Amino acid sequence: MPTYQIGTLADIPEGRGKAFTVNGVRVAVFRVGTELYAIDDTCSHAEASLSAGEFDPEEYCVECPLHGSLFDVRTGTPRTLPAFEPVATYRVFVEGATVFVEFGA
Ligand code: FES
Repeated sequence: MPTYQIGTLADIPEGRGKAFTVNGVRVAVFRVGTELYAIDDTCSHAEASLSAGEFDPEEYCVECPLHGSLFDVRTGTPRTLPAFEPVATYRVFVEGATVFVEFGA
């Protein structure tokens, strides 16, 4: 699977999301300690940027800034309505201080 370098660990603050464009698609990356999680940045309900939502690292949960659905950043699954479709997840990993995302076939 293709791997894309998206930045460094320092680019991804703890406690809020950061969006990157990977292969033409916006991907939201969230950091919990040394763990990273990557999901589609666009909400599955309407046109909203999940990386701009409030992130709760203890719950691994981001709140869509438009209508408030809570998404689990580990699975992409919405925990609350109005969104009911999951968003895609991507494998994200760090080598040294560089962050990579696996994306596409
Ligand atoms: S746009 Fe995200 S819940 Fe509606």
